[in-house]
Amino acid sequence: MQICVIPGDGIGPEVMAVATAALRALAPDLTLTEAEAGWGVFQRTGVALPAETLAAAREATAILFGAVASPSHPVPGYRSPIVELRRTLDLYANIRPTIGPGVDLVVVRENTEDLYSGRERLEDDGNTAIAERVITRTASARIVRAACELARTRQAAGHPGKVTIVHKANVLRVSDGLFRTVALEVAADFPELTFEERLVDVAAMQLAAQPQRFDVIVTTNLFGDILSDIACIHGGGLGVAASSNLGHGRALFEPVHGAAPDIAGRGIANPTAALNCVVMLLEWIGRPHAAERLRRAMDAVAAAGIRTPDAGGDATTREVADAILEQLTTH
Ligand code: NAI
Ligand code: MG
Repeated sequence: MQICVIPGDGIGPEVMAVATAALRALAPDLTLTEAEAGWGVFQRTGVALPAETLAAAREATAILFGAVASPSHPVPGYRSPIVELRRTLDLYANIRPTIGPGVDLVVVRENTEDLYSGRERLEDDGNTAIAERVITRTASARIVRAACELARTRQAAGHPGKVTIVHKANVLRVSDGLFRTVALEVAADFPELTFEERLVDVAAMQLAAQPQRFDVIVTTNLFGDILSDIACIHGGGLGVAASSNLGHGRALFEPVHGAAPDIAGRGIANPTAALNCVVMLLEWIGRPHAAERLRRAMDAVAAAGIRTPDAGGDATTREVADAILEQLTTH
C-alpha cells in the first residue's frame, strides 16, 4: 500500500518528519513516497502543486499532508495546493474531531465548493471585489449523509446520535436555503438520529461556551473552516488538532494548523497534530491496533511532561519525537 507524504512549508516538514518516523515504526510494510507542494516549490518553479505531486497523490491510497504557506494577497499563478488537492481528488468530506475534558465532537465540513470555488474577481476598475458562493444539491446531500453515517457509527459507541446542521439561511436564503432544504431531506432517512439547526453565529458562540452540547456538526466549507478552529480550543489547540479529508476510496490526513511561520525553524513545533493524523490514517487503512499503540505512546509521553511550549512544556519537537519513538520500540 502506497502512502504519499507532502511535507509542505514552514513547520510542515518539521512535524511530518516525526509523523513519517512513527508510521515507519508502526507499519514498516507501507511504501512511503514524498512529494512537494506549497509556497517554497512555487517560488522555485512557478507551480504550487507540481504535476508529479498530483500524480503521486492519485496513485497513493492515502496522503499525509503537512501544511503550506499561502500568501494573503493575490499572486498570479498561485493556487492553494490543499484546496486544489481536495477538489481535484474529490475529497469531499473534511472530518475534524475534537476530544477534550467533557467534549467529544466532530465538525464535518463540506470540502469542495462554497466560497472556496475560486470564483473571485475584481470589477469597477478594481474597486469592487466579487466572490461567488457555490452550493449544490449533490455536494450538500453527500456531506450531510456522511455526517449522519458518522453520527450513527458514533451512536453505536455510546454517543448521543445528534446532528447539528449549521447554516445562515436567514440571510443567505438561496445558497444556504438550498443547503438547509437538502440537509433536512437527508435527515429524514435517519430516524434513529436527532437533528437540530443552528445559525452559524450562534453555533460559534455555543461551540466556544458550551462545546459539550454538540455531537456531530455538519456545515458548508467556510463555516466549517472557522467552526473547527474554534472547536479545537477544547482539544488542546492547534498543536493537537488533526483532520481527515475523505473521498471515494481515498483519504488525505492533515493537521488543522498551518505553516506557523512565527515558530518555523526553531524546532519547537508540536508534532501531536501530525501524529494524530497518523492515528487517523492507521484507523482508516484498517489497522486499529497500530493506531492504539501510537495513541498510548503519545499519552504516556504527554503524561511524563514531555511537551512542546504550546502545550505547556519546554521540550523540543525532537525530544517529543524521540520519547514517542522510544515508547513505540519498547512497548
Ligand atoms: P497557523 O496554524 O500556521 O498558526 C497559528 C498559531 O498557532 C501560530 O502562533 C503558530 O505558531 C501556532 N501553531 C500552529 N501549529 C502549531 C504547532 N504544531 N505547534 C505549536 N504551535 C503551533 O495559522 P496562521 O498563522 O494563520 O497561518 C500561517 C500560514 O499557514 C499562512 O500562510 C496560511 O495560509 C497557512 N495555513 C495553511 C494551512 C494548511 O496548509 N492546511 C491551514 C492554515 C493556515
Ligand atoms: Mg482553517
